[in-house]
Parts: sequence; C-alpha cells; structure tokens
Amino acid sequence: MNRGLSKIVFPTAGLGTRFLPATKASPKEMLTIVDKPLIQYGVEEALASGMDKIIMVTGRGKRAIEDHFDISAQLEANLKAAGKDALYKEVSRVSRMAEVVYVRQKQALGLGHAVACATNWVGDEPFGVALADELIISKVPAMQQLRIIHEQTGCSVVGLMRVPKNLVSRYGIAAASEENGLLRLTDMVEKPQPEDAPSDLAIIGRYIFTPRLFDLLAETKPGKGGEIQLTDAVARLAKEEPVYGVLIEGNRHDAGNPLGFLMANAELGSKHPQFGEELTDFLRNLL
Ligand code: UTP
Repeated sequence: MNRGLSKIVFPTAGLGTRFLPATKASPKEMLTIVDKPLIQYGVEEALASGMDKIIMVTGRGKRAIEDHFDISAQLEANLKAAGKDALYKEVSRVSRMAEVVYVRQKQALGLGHAVACATNWVGDEPFGVALADELIISKVPAMQQLRIIHEQTGCSVVGLMRVPKNLVSRYGIAAASEENGLLRLTDMVEKPQPEDAPSDLAIIGRYIFTPRLFDLLAETKPGKGGEIQLTDAVARLAKEEPVYGVLIEGNRHDAGNPLGFLMANAELGSKHPQFGEELTDFLRNLL
C-alpha cells in the first residue's frame, strides 16, 4: 500500500525545439499561460495532490526556473514599499510554496534519462513524475486522479487520454486490459505508426511509479530517436508488476508547441474571473 507519496519529479531539461525561437534563451517551462509560467501550474497541481517535495531535473539555460521559486528579497522589498500588497503576497507565496531541489541532467539524453537523474533524491519510495509543458485543466488535479488509484492498489499508475487514430504517432501508446474495473497496461509503444498502434490510449505526462522503475531505467538503452525513453522502461515495468492507467478527466494541452500553448491561453484566459468575458467577446469578434 501507499506509504505517504510526497515526492514528485519534474523533468525540465529538454531542448524545446518545437517552440524555437521562443525557447532559444529561455526555458519552455517558463512560457506564460495567462499570468503564470507553465512550471508554476505544475507545482501547484502537485501541491494540490499532496506531493510537496519537488525534484526539478534541469539543464543548461534553465536558471530562470530556479530563480522563479527562489526568494527575491529586492523585489519583495520594492513591492512592499510601493504598497502593492496583493503583488507582494503573490510573489512571496511563489517563493515559499514548496520545497524544491534541483538536479542537473548534463546532456539531454531523453526523458527516461532525465527521470533517472532523480534516483538518489527519491530513494526507495513511490514517486510522481509530471511534465509541466502538458497543462491539464481539470476539477480534480490530474496528479490527484492518479494518486487515488495508487492508494487503492499500491502500484504504478499512468495518465491516459484517447486520441484519434491518425494522431497516435505523436504519443506513447498503451495496450490495456480491464482488471477489477481498472485499466491494466500490458504494453507500451513510443510514437507508433497508426497501423502498429495497439490502441488509441495515449500516455500523457502524469505518472506515479514504484521505485523499481529506477532499476529498469538504469538498464534502458537508447530507443526511438536515439533517446533513453521513459516509455521503454515503463513497458518493462508493466511486464514485472501491475501498472494501471487512468483516463484523465480534464482538458490537456501540449503547451510545448505553439498551437497547444495558444489553446491553453485561450481556455484559461476566457475563464479568467477578471477579463475572461472581455477576451471571449474579442475572440468571437475575430471569427
Ligand atoms: P519533449 O518531448 O517535450 O522534448 O520532452 P523537449 O526536448 O523538451 O522539446 P522538443 O520536442 O525539442 O520541442 C518531454 C519532457 O521531458 C523533458 C522535457 O523538458 C519535457 O518536460 N526532457 C526531455 C528532459 O528533461 N530531458 C531530456 O533529455 C528530454
């Protein structure tokens, strides 16, 4: 059974080539959706799901992420002196919201390799993994949806969504069978051609793993695209012990590419309590 799941790994060391030139000098995870960077949405989701020990795997050019969660004494003093109390509170809340440690992935060798960089910080306990560039807008935080199944079963859990057959080559695709009302994953293929896809169940960037995953990652050789793929290690894990899938309730946006990013801004912008209505009118008038 679950022994207090509190740690979560955020791999943030990718190169962000799909969003160049925006990501040339600033991290993809710092792209802003309405008024907050993507990584802050991810950390807030983790905290709302009871995971308050954050392990951020960073790389070259990712300093802004560390600065974002750091205390900026000068900025806080300036806001206070200027009587900007609401902004002061928000800025100081961000700096103190979570305990964050940073681990460096020295070379972008793949998502599986990035997760493996957190091995010593997680140790021998279950842990979450979240990809902050996948923004999930939902009533129940996405990581909490996974946590519920993890607490029921004590096993690894992977977030899923159904995708049209012609889009399967963009995702890791899972084969699954029903077991006691849950989806048990039997295999996974990274970015298959439609004719090779075992289903329409795409793996999205939310996971909870038992620590056994680290042993398997250590043995995982480069796969698709020459990268050490997380999917390959999870496929092996699923052959050794149960790995369950959860169809995530909510809207998932791949904000790591310009179209998904714009859609995430449109959705959250149009729901904003202050200016949502105005933005919605503006968007309607454009059409
Ligand atoms: P992506 O597939 O989005 O890759 O990685 P990317 O390099 O960030 O972006 P593109 O494809 O070049 O545009 C999925 C997640 O894995 C992390 C990324 O930061 C992202 O959160 N990642 C990927 C690493 O941390 N290290 C890697 O070596 C690769």
